[in-house]
Amino acid sequence: MNGPSDGYASAAGVRMPRMIYGTAWKAARTADLVAAALNAGFRGIDTACQPRHYHEAGVGAGIAASGIARDALYLQSKFTPPGGHDPGTEPYDRRAPVATQVAQSFARSLDNLRTDRLDALVLHSPLATRALTQEAWRAMEGLVADGRVGLLGLSNCYALAEFDALYRAAEVKPAVLQNRFHARTRHDRELRAFCRDHGIVYQSFWTLTANGDALASATVRTLAERHQRTPAQILFRYLVQQDVVPLTGTTSLAHMREDLAVFDFELRPRECDAMGLLF
Ligand SMILES: NC(=O)c1ccc[n+]([C@@H]2O[C@H](COP(=O)([O-])OP(=O)(O)OC[C@H]3O[C@@H](n4cnc5c(N)ncnc54)[C@H](OP(=O)(O)O)[C@@H]3O)[C@@H](O)[C@H]2O)c1
Repeated sequence: MNGPSDGYASAAGVRMPRMIYGTAWKAARTADLVAAALNAGFRGIDTACQPRHYHEAGVGAGIAASGIARDALYLQSKFTPPGGHDPGTEPYDRRAPVATQVAQSFARSLDNLRTDRLDALVLHSPLATRALTQEAWRAMEGLVADGRVGLLGLSNCYALAEFDALYRAAEVKPAVLQNRFHARTRHDRELRAFCRDHGIVYQSFWTLTANGDALASATVRTLAERHQRTPAQILFRYLVQQDVVPLTGTTSLAHMREDLAVFDFELRPRECDAMGLLF
């Protein structure tokens, strides 16, 4: 279970579970699955104010149904720039300046999630220009200054130079980078090193779905057999030991339990070295 012993990381002074339940693509099942995940032991929730992929109000309903106190949870949502929305579904005025869009989207997230603050607000992707990205970021910084957001993050940024530019320009430094963990991005090696060096938490998605070859590899199969775990558990455990926070959006109760059980065993340093050759 996501217990306090090794189940939490710290980012910019905010307590973040080392594995987070993702709520994309669950549509009408969102509330039930969020409640099930919280009852299984998850304490971190990732969502977005982006109706195309997330039913954020369903997340709020699931949290309420679980009965778990707000203070026991890490709640993370996203501001999605206009390009990430189906036209007409934006939670803001599409013609408004980006700062207004951030404020309107954030207000909708609070309403959907039935809370007065977020532990993390993530910019879903860089905007069309660096200037616009920084404008959005400044609006997000204002929410931190107001005490309504704990930390800020960026997602879908695969160029180190771009991330570094935001990092340098930011007054409130990014504390999270949420990216697809994928061979095509070389598993973000350079970006993960940057995160490590700057105390930024790297959150992975597509962790299982984009890494079928690695999961089927002799290295993972051997470790799975040795530790009596599934290949998915070996990969998640390896990432946790690298200080990566994986997102899992499983819809299966059995997988929820298996995912949380990665906190019950440990890979040895030599085993991590072998895993490192794959990623
Ligand atoms: N920032 C972004 O742009 C972005 C993009 C994509 C995702 N995300 C976030 O990341 C979360 C996770 O998304 P994801 O793309 O990584 O995929 P995912 O939604 O977690 O899907 C994982 C897939 O692997 C299967 N699976 C098999 N064994 C599993 C196990 N032990 N544990 C978990 N899943 C197992 C699942 O099937 P079962 O359901 O049958 O278990 C599911 O089909 C999303 O919900 C969202 O919050 C963010």
